[in-house]
Amino acid sequence: MFKGRPNPGRSLLLSFILLCLCFLILLYHHHAAGFDSQAIAIRPAGDTAGSRGIAEPPAKNPEEHPLHHPPPSVDIVAASLQTDNTAWFHRHLPLSWRKHIYTVDDSRASLTVPKNKGREAMVYLTHIVNNYDSLAETTIFFHAARFAWHNDDPDYDAVPTLRRLRLEHVRREGYVNLRCVWVIGCPEEIHPHLDAEEARRLDSEAGSTDEEKPPTTTKAIYKTAFQELLQGVPVPDVVAVSCCSQFAVTREAIRRRPREDYVRFRDWLLSTPLTDDLSGRVMEFAWHIIFGKESVHCPSTKDCYCNLWGLCGDDMTCTDGACEGRYTLPGLANLPDHWPLLGWAGENRNFTGPLD
Ligand SMILES: *[C@@H]1O[C@H](CO)[C@@H](O)[C@H](O)[C@H]1NC(C)=O
Repeated sequence: MFKGRPNPGRSLLLSFILLCLCFLILLYHHHAAGFDSQAIAIRPAGDTAGSRGIAEPPAKNPEEHPLHHPPPSVDIVAASLQTDNTAWFHRHLPLSWRKHIYTVDDSRASLTVPKNKGREAMVYLTHIVNNYDSLAETTIFFHAARFAWHNDDPDYDAVPTLRRLRLEHVRREGYVNLRCVWVIGCPEEIHPHLDAEEARRLDSEAGSTDEEKPPTTTKAIYKTAFQELLQGVPVPDVVAVSCCSQFAVTREAIRRRPREDYVRFRDWLLSTPLTDDLSGRVMEFAWHIIFGKESVHCPSTKDCYCNLWGLCGDDMTCTDGACEGRYTLPGLANLPDHWPLLGWAGENRNFTGPLD
């Protein structure tokens, strides 16, 4: 019907599509370039190499040339509730990171869990079980809240702890905890054998038996839980890792165990009679062991800040477990309403980071 005759409507449409395509390509390049220059700009500012007078060695590994090779793939897995604001994952983290935001209390969410049990551990295990064969080179496991009392940052802000993360350090280590400061969790949080004995002693003094009173502390139940989870692995004398279940792991470290192990850990979580805070905390103090670290995993805070985030200057005054000005354990778990702009006493904090 239209044979041989140019159709002005159709060629207009064609031009329009072409124009759109060009625009999309331009937009894509603009974004990619924007991220590269940000990544480069972040490094020298306030960074160690400069303050120690040591220039960064040129990257030997061709993989580390962002202009010539795609960056290593990163997945970030977040455990959220319907009420959490998770927009910051998309706004403030690299576009190239794949975001997997699980909503634990919405069975119709595109990413969710078989059962809302065991806190963030159920999300992390579900992600591994479902994606075991298609894991990114690095997976970051994280909570939904951007500002949280346990984030190792002067503003308790997750954004710098993620944006500054040195992926090459994660690659070297296999597993890194995304928190350096020792307060809560290090240097010796749980003594599984002694703590179990102590709990039994207290119970018998109180004249109760295991059946009568539900357990109330992680210390008391850790030994039994560890034996159920990691059958055949000797229960360590001491377990320690800085708190709060946020960490990055390489594909290789995850795959050092077969998928079935993660299915079994999740089955344990699904079936345990322990309350969520206890089962979640058992996992919190088991991840580093699961991913191949010693049961006591407390690198010196100074080394940790340097390796993890490039905060290495001589101006960092540190003890084994803390560096001045980096992290203060707050008195309350809930940050004030207008944090980070206003502080505990309503004072202006002069926050300069990006806001949502
Ligand atoms: C914020 O800036 C003001 C004005 O420069 C200053 O007086 C105040 O001490 C600063 N507050 C903090 C918490 O640094």
